[in-house]
Amino acid sequence: RMGTLDLREEILRLKKERNAVILAHSYQRPEIQDLADFVGDSLALARKAQETDCDVIAFCGVHFMAETACILNPTKTVILPDADAACSLEASCPAGELESFLKEHADRNYYVVAYVNCSIGVKALADVIVTSGNAKTIIEKAPKDRPILFVPDQNLGAWTSRQTGREMTLWNGACHVHLEFTRQQILDLKAAHPGALVVCHPECTEPVRLLADHICSTEKMIPFCRESDAARFIIVTETGILHRLRKLVPDKEFIPASTPQCSCGECVYMKMNTLEKLRDALASLSPRIEIPEELRLRAHAPLQRMLDLSL
Ligand code: 13P
Ligand code: SF4
Repeated sequence: RMGTLDLREEILRLKKERNAVILAHSYQRPEIQDLADFVGDSLALARKAQETDCDVIAFCGVHFMAETACILNPTKTVILPDADAACSLEASCPAGELESFLKEHADRNYYVVAYVNCSIGVKALADVIVTSGNAKTIIEKAPKDRPILFVPDQNLGAWTSRQTGREMTLWNGACHVHLEFTRQQILDLKAAHPGALVVCHPECTEPVRLLADHICSTEKMIPFCRESDAARFIIVTETGILHRLRKLVPDKEFIPASTPQCSCGECVYMKMNTLEKLRDALASLSPRIEIPEELRLRAHAPLQRMLDLSL
């Protein structure tokens, strides 16, 4: 069996041969983050995917993220180490259901805002895409004369609605990882770690969000913790981000909001990618993301609108 060191070397060799760039989300396994050319949240990764001049994008994240990279960069080969790396939020809004809903409520002429955690079919039905990092900015620029339908995450939607004062109809979707955190669990952690600030992802439920000292996307957690006067933080999101926080802000303490008794805080889909699968994907250039051009163009417009509006 090959050691991790050899495996790393093989990946780096294949990366060079393929002229590939390795992009990794902050929720990926630590060994993947350490090997990647770039680690970021979904907004930063979408931007990187658009900028790269490599021939191959090895996307270590979940399927919708690799698909987004492909929508933005159709001339590149986009590979995803595990083709089954899905997302429960994406699954909570099938494109067919959204299409029927929009037909049924055609009289309302909804301005459809889709959180990037959705399928290409949903993106194609949206007016604009948002990520957790730019939702507030984009909603502030939404047309004032049309009602907003926010899909698929009701928690990010409710939080953004409160932040902007814009009323919205919310799709009934959620992320299974963030749904699991409970108010009691956070209260217990606060009692065990006096003085620690609670930093929470907007996909958490409202009772949990109400306990947060700060709510932001994974990327923004880094400058917030670095610049804060506090020395300890309870991090209420997928645990992968703790690796980055500890690496980039080494003088502070980060406490995951998951306990050994619960499996919460781990996204099984994000953890499906491994170094072995990354090596195999670079060697065989598969699993590869492939999308029909007509659908890609329809999804591209709202994504590009997002990138233009979030500058
Ligand atoms: P970010 O937008 O912070 O990257 O979050 C993506 C995600 O999947 C959250 O669960
Ligand atoms: Fe999807 Fe939740 Fe996993 Fe993020 S953490 S990829 S929203 S299932």
